[in-house]
Parts: sequence; C-alpha cells; structure tokens
Amino acid sequence: MTPTDLRVWMQTHQDRIEGVLEAALPGTAIAPSRLHEAMRYAALGGGKRMRPLLAYAAGEAAGADLRRVDRVAAAVELIHAYSLVHDDMPCMDDDVLRRGKPTVHVQYDEPMALLVGDSLQSLAFEVLADGPIADDPQVAQDMVVALARAAGSRGMAGGQAVDLESLGKVLSVPELEFMHGHKTGALIRAAVSLGALCGRLDHMALAGLSHYAKFVGLAFQVVDDILDATASTETLGKTAGKDARSHKPTFVSVLGIVDARSFADELLEDAITALEPLGEKGARLEELARFIVARDR
Ligand code: IPE
Ligand code: IPE
Ligand code: MG
Ligand code: MG
Ligand code: MG
Repeated sequence: MTPTDLRVWMQTHQDRIEGVLEAALPGTAIAPSRLHEAMRYAALGGGKRMRPLLAYAAGEAAGADLRRVDRVAAAVELIHAYSLVHDDMPCMDDDVLRRGKPTVHVQYDEPMALLVGDSLQSLAFEVLADGPIADDPQVAQDMVVALARAAGSRGMAGGQAVDLESLGKVLSVPELEFMHGHKTGALIRAAVSLGALCGRLDHMALAGLSHYAKFVGLAFQVVDDILDATASTETLGKTAGKDARSHKPTFVSVLGIVDARSFADELLEDAITALEPLGEKGARLEELARFIVARDR
C-alpha cells in the first residue's frame, strides 16, 4: 500500500463515519434542541476518527459487512466523544479547547456538558443494539458487554479515576501502563475487537488482533503524552503543555521524551509482529498503527 492509498482510505472511511454519526444524532429540531445541538457540536465535524478507522480496518480484515461495522464504529466514537466532553470539564482536566473549538462546557455550560456526555453514552448503546452486528446472537451479546466493560470502571472510566488520583504523584512504568491501558487502551481494544467480530476470523488471527490492539492502545496514549509536551496548541486543536502544568504523571514525565519515543516505537514493532497470523489481511491495520505512532496531532 502506498501512503496515497492510506490517505484515500482514511478519508473515505472518515466521511463514512461522519455520515453514520450525522444520521444517528438527533436533529436540532427535536426537543430538547439545545441538548441535541450540543451533542452534535461534541460529536460531529472533528477529530481524527482513529477508533472508527481501526474498527473498519479490523472489519475489512474479517470480511465483515460494513453496515455492521458502522454500528460498532459509531458506538465506540460516541463513547470516545462523551469521554472527551467530561475529560475537559473543570472538575477533570479543565480544558477550554478541543478539536480546534471551545470545549462543550465553555460553548454551552457545565450542566449541559454533563448531560451531553450522559446522552452520547446512551446513544452509543442504542446505535450498537439497533440492528445486526454478528450472525451469532451470542457473539452480538458478547459485543455489547465488551463495549460496556471497555467504557466503564474496568475500562475508560476506571482509567480516568486513576488519572485523577495520580495528580502530583510519581508513577512507576507498570502503574502508567495500567492507567493508559484503561483510560485510552480499553476503547481502542474495543474498536478493534468489535470491528473484527462483525465478520469472521480464526482463533489465531483473533488472538493476534487482541495483542495488536493492546500495543496500539498503549502506544496511542504514549504518543498523546509526547504530543502534549512537543506539539503546538494550533496543531493539536487542544491546549498544549497541559500535562506538565497540571503535574500529571505521563510517559514523558517518567521516562523523558527520548525514551518515551523509543517506547512508542517498541510498541509499534510489537503491534506489527502481533499481526503475523493475519498475513496480508493485516496490511491496513499495520498502516494505521504506523500512522498512530508517527502522527503529529
Ligand atoms: C484524545 O483522543 C484523547 C485520548 C484518549 C488520548 P484522540 O487523539 O483520538 O482525539 P480526537 O478524537 O482525534 O479528537
Ligand atoms: C484522555 O487522556 C483520556 C480520555 C479518556 C478522554 P487526556 O486527558 O490526556 O486526553 P487529552 O490530552 O485531553 O485529549
Ligand atoms: Mg485527562
Ligand atoms: Mg485531557
Ligand atoms: Mg493528553
């Protein structure tokens, strides 16, 4: 695959998920219109859509009907969008800029940001359960449970709790891996595994994918930590340098930039090795892993 192919593939699937989200989010003509407007503000027209892209790539590797993957991709992205709205609130990271726009509590208000997050999370499960996602009803049920777990206290929300408890502390590398593997890794693992479960792969390939997703999920947040310390607010579309100013333990504060970068590169190599059982079918997922580690925003 050439880089142009990857760019075209990404744009095609980013446009696809935008359409799916647009259709899933209630219109502003529906009451309560201010809440629906704020939900659309939070979820549409921004972001890299990396989780949907991972779901589509895994689904394509598994020969899935992409209309099934649409549900999975939208559900994971809606949970992600909710997590960002709450993550930015004054009681959490207290950020004013997200995806190049004022954060939801700044543009609207704090109670609205709370309700936008709540409503996006509910909508995620509505979308996931609103049509077929797997041939086997047991697999479909397992997929709903997997997303619920990835979002909750044993997944993203749990990681966010560790993040808040860790302010001003020095964490060990295993502690950081736990925090990052939960707050960011869990939803990325869900995107990959649910995308694949929309289709069919043998056990070896599914196990390989699960290792791949674990490495990519951790690498994603290691790179987020590096970018917070090295990129500009303008490029990121969110305020740069916040982690150090907020005394957050990150891979940069614990390892330094150079070793954090080497760690991300090691995770990338591990992710690519984990794809071996997929053979040619893993090509797009390998490209996405490379993109995630090399990204500049
Ligand atoms: C930011 O996620 C928050 C993390 C979990 C690291 P993204 O970097 O995927 O943000 P968007 O969706 O592209 O805005
Ligand atoms: C966010 O981690 C993880 C989430 C679950 C939203 P960060 O707090 O580092 O994400 P950014 O840097 O604000 O996007
Ligand atoms: Mg945070
Ligand atoms: Mg934050
Ligand atoms: Mg960050």
